[in-house]
Amino acid sequence: IVGAHVRELAEEAEARQEIANPYIIGVPLTERQEIFVGRTDVGARIEGLLLDRRRPPLLLYGQRRMGKTSLLNNLGRLLPSTIVPLFVDLQGPATQASDHAGFLYNVARFIADSARRHGLALPRLPREALASDPFTRFDEWLDEVEGALGQSTALLALDEFETLDSAIAKGRFDEEAILGTLRHLIQHRPRFKVLLSGSHTLDELQRWASYLINAQVVHISYLKEDEARRLIERPVRDFALRYEPRATRRVLDLTRGHPALVQLLCAEIVALKNEQPPAVRRLARLSDVEAAVPEALSRGSLFFADIERNQVDGAGLLLRFIAAQGEGAVVSQETLARQFPDELERALALLRRRELIEPVDRGYRFQVELIRRWFAPASPAPRL
Ligand SMILES: Nc1ncnc2c1ncn2[C@@H]1O[C@H](COP(=O)(O)OP(=O)(O)OP(=O)(O)O)[C@@H](O)[C@H]1O
Ligand SMILES: [Mg+2]
Repeated sequence: IVGAHVRELAEEAEARQEIANPYIIGVPLTERQEIFVGRTDVGARIEGLLLDRRRPPLLLYGQRRMGKTSLLNNLGRLLPSTIVPLFVDLQGPATQASDHAGFLYNVARFIADSARRHGLALPRLPREALASDPFTRFDEWLDEVEGALGQSTALLALDEFETLDSAIAKGRFDEEAILGTLRHLIQHRPRFKVLLSGSHTLDELQRWASYLINAQVVHISYLKEDEARRLIERPVRDFALRYEPRATRRVLDLTRGHPALVQLLCAEIVALKNEQPPAVRRLARLSDVEAAVPEALSRGSLFFADIERNQVDGAGLLLRFIAAQGEGAVVSQETLARQFPDELERALALLRRRELIEPVDRGYRFQVELIRRWFAPASPAPRL
């Protein structure tokens, strides 16, 4: 009897033993979060470009949710300590400011905060100081920052630069004043390197091209396979869930190593396993991965709907058409031309640039299976 009771108690304890869910959905990873994986290649490319004597401005270009902000937040550990990353979120209060003084004040605040995290104290730039002649006062402040940098180099990273673009387009800020200041900083302050981050190229945002001569593009895309594998199988130390090899393979194939999608799908897998009896809870099988997909699509609906909403000029119909042909299907250029006689090339070019489709064998297919699922009808069309 005692044995049975002990066993019962043990089972109860086991039953409560849930797998802690380490995944982070919807917000950028902050500095030194254990679950940040990979990106050493992107870091190395940035480091290489920082040594370029022509001092080109850098453009970190990557699709939505591909990990741009997370990378910027983690530059400190990817780059040598002589480089001080100064992170400015242009989506925040800076571009919401009502005038130039408010803009510069908030930029300075972001800069000072990042420098402090890097162990560097900068002089304050009080708002009142910017009341008259804000650009001159800001420039003087940059002199002081340069002084404080000593032998270090500052990497000024401006995240979401499109937000500044639309603030300028709306006439809230003066183009020449703001972008001229940026160009001046790039050309005349060798201690500062500038990196802009966003999901548009300079071709798409013409206004910037003339201010950012010789800009070098740093592309951030899917995680490499071993990086994604680590996120799946060992997101944190002592992760209690194991994957059978076929299950890991399936997560890799469904997500292609898109970091936000790996996190999304794996979070759903953990949630699903926690609802299963303890005896089978700690091993993720292929069937678990498949079962988690609908949940992931639903929980990630904001992300997917955002992709859908951003498709203009029939590109959405094109995506739906390709998606309807099933997993991995390649739709030939001829078929597409028959279905979409107008503006096909433009739509294809846009969808390629957005990394949604890719050319193969004189046709096109989806890049990421999970995204295809969102665009696919509930019951797939017969294969062409
Ligand atoms: N290096 C990484 N390792 C693990 N997970 C990552 C990594 N980078 C990004 N992620 C995951 O992807 C999600 C999106 O990342 P992040 O917000 O940095 O992308 P973003 O490109 O800045 O997106 P947006 O275009 O919306 O600004 C994060 O919430 C995180 O779950
Ligand atoms: Mg971001």
